[in-house]
Amino acid sequence: METIKAIARRKSTRKYLDRQIAEKELETILFAGCAAPVAGNDWHTMQLVVIQNKELLSRISEAGSRGRKRRRDPLYGALTLVLIASEIYCPYPFHAGQQNAACIGENMCIAAADLGLGSTYLTGFLPGFNADAELVKDAGVREGFKTEAAIALGYPEVPDDSEKQMAHQEIITFIR
Ligand SMILES: Cc1cc2nc3c(=O)[nH]c(=O)nc-3n(C[C@H](O)[C@H](O)[C@H](O)COP(=O)(O)O)c2cc1C
Repeated sequence: METIKAIARRKSTRKYLDRQIAEKELETILFAGCAAPVAGNDWHTMQLVVIQNKELLSRISEAGSRGRKRRRDPLYGALTLVLIASEIYCPYPFHAGQQNAACIGENMCIAAADLGLGSTYLTGFLPGFNADAELVKDAGVREGFKTEAAIALGYPEVPDDSEKQMAHQEIITFIR
């Protein structure tokens, strides 16, 4: 039941406080990410990079805004960003690297909600970020890997512990 509560409370945070998350919280969130399903259980095809360096975060934010109409910070001021990268050569079909990233990312977002933290699943900054080879290298992304998504983490400026109700029923087909 607690898991369902955390799932119902998870929402995208778009404004973070200027306060770093606790190390213990980060550990729990990384544990949740690394407990996700990944294709073939082939974890060596994936990489997580935790970025808490303010200068690097600001370079990523700047690169991520390039070419976008709205020049708003694509990281929303989060002080922790977890890049989720996958090996470009992937032995599994159906964009397994992206699917792995989504599973890992969502597990982290749910764990963050459980801890009362905010999170945002991010891809909008990727075109600008992935196009900047020097920045990608400085961000520690391994050669032969590509960042597929990232999770912003932090304390939300406006905490919201409301719970989602059942929605989007129109997308569900039952065949019984
Ligand atoms: C694949 C994917 C990419 C996303 N990229 C972004 C993004 O770049 N920036 C952003 O603010 N939100 C991003 N989101 C968050 C969605 O906009 C958000 O989940 C959706 O609006 C529903 O809101 P909720 O998360 O509060 O339930 C992304 C979500 C997914 C699953």
